[in-house]
Amino acid sequence: MILGIGVDVVHVRRIEHWLSVKGLPERFFHPAELQSALLRGSAAALSLAARFAAKEAFGKALGTGLRGIQLTDICVINNHNGRPDIELRGSALERFRSVGGGTLHLSLTHERDNAIAMVVMEA
Ligand SMILES: CC(C)(COP(=O)(O)OP(=O)(O)OC[C@H]1O[C@@H](n2cnc3c(N)ncnc32)[C@H](O)[C@@H]1OP(=O)(O)O)[C@@H](O)C(=O)NCCC(=O)NCCS
Repeated sequence: MILGIGVDVVHVRRIEHWLSVKGLPERFFHPAELQSALLRGSAAALSLAARFAAKEAFGKALGTGLRGIQLTDICVINNHNGRPDIELRGSALERFRSVGGGTLHLSLTHERDNAIAMVVMEA
């Protein structure tokens, strides 16, 4: 059963600004997200924009938003086929379980300056 859906769009300029401020990216992204994005060279900010959109889309799918959830507890990583998956820990996992969440599905896209994410949450 589908419990919730969420979609979000993030402009790359927002992330480029965060990357220019020492210590700021670490507040929003898990170390694994930062590491894999930096391997993408000039596409790093767009990759992180998609991952931040995924976090906000997750908040919408929950129906509660992200207040009280540490953003580093939501980690978007690609599997061996390139498909992005959301891994939850700590505060994010706790909230997900509290609303009866079982499985998450994520799709990302990015083009020029914008990245979009869509999340489907199943019971
Ligand atoms: C839910 C949340 C993710 C929405 O993010 P946002 O970027 O402000 O919202 P968007 O502009 O993308 O979308 C707005 C729409 O989200 C929807 N929305 C708002 N709260 C929602 C909720 N709790 N559940 C599902 N959808 C929600 C509404 O439809 C809203 O549009 P409307 O007011 O015209 O109906 C946000 O409330 C949140 O939790 N933000 C925290 C993010 C954060 O911690 N940022 C820190 C870095 S600055």
